[in-house]
Amino acid sequence: SADRVTLSGDDDRRYAELVTQATVVAQPLPCASMDVLTVDHPLAKARLTVMRDARTDSANFRAALHELTVMLTYEAMRAAPLRVERIHTPVARTDGHWLANPPLLVPVLRAGLGMADQAHKLIPDAQMGFVGLARDEETLQPTPYMESLPADLSDRAVFVLDPMLATGGSMVYTIKLLVDRGATDVTAICALAAPEGVEHLRQSGLPVRLVTASIDERLNDSGFIVPGLGDAGDRQYGAV
Ligand code: PRP
Repeated sequence: SADRVTLSGDDDRRYAELVTQATVVAQPLPCASMDVLTVDHPLAKARLTVMRDARTDSANFRAALHELTVMLTYEAMRAAPLRVERIHTPVARTDGHWLANPPLLVPVLRAGLGMADQAHKLIPDAQMGFVGLARDEETLQPTPYMESLPADLSDRAVFVLDPMLATGGSMVYTIKLLVDRGATDVTAICALAAPEGVEHLRQSGLPVRLVTASIDERLNDSGFIVPGLGDAGDRQYGAV
């Protein structure tokens, strides 16, 4: 692209590497018993590339995640049930369509907070619950620190919002909390995923489908998605 011409040699090589990996890795995975939707629309790919690019600052990272969340949520809602009600336009009577069962939105803190408002704007009638998890950097296990969820989730669709599905530990933990409350219809919305996380989710046997912009190549030894985008929480809010 024109951008690349203006970069230094090192940046140019790194950028080309990231873009090449991002293009090559979106392969279909063997997820026979779990519904996986990879949203590979050009606009989604372009936003995800901004997020992957190590040169992107926090403000632009957050903006790209906001925009990508709109696209992922839009696709996740494609089969949402509608209620039909007659309405009057200024000209005539016609069928109006309303969401019959708006999903409960559950951002996983911290990084999922960057998806919450945008999903909520798209589905204003949605309620929102919260789960706070931090992944232990040594063991890679999720450590819960907060939970605010409705007691009864039977007959309610739930959308879990988290930019990253790495080992899948955080997502499986969160979905178990939801299933314990009766949820049977859970959608995980993740900007990107590692094959290991997808497999973990599939093996869990939990009632979940995954909507993501990319299934990347692999996890590295530190549990980071490769090529990935680094740590979505740190990139949005700074390292703490
Ligand atoms: C990241 C990410 C997920 C989790 C994914 O959060 O946002 O919640 O790790 O990893 P996993 O699939 O291996 O469980 P992190 O624990 O870094 O916390 P943060 O959102 O507060 O940065």
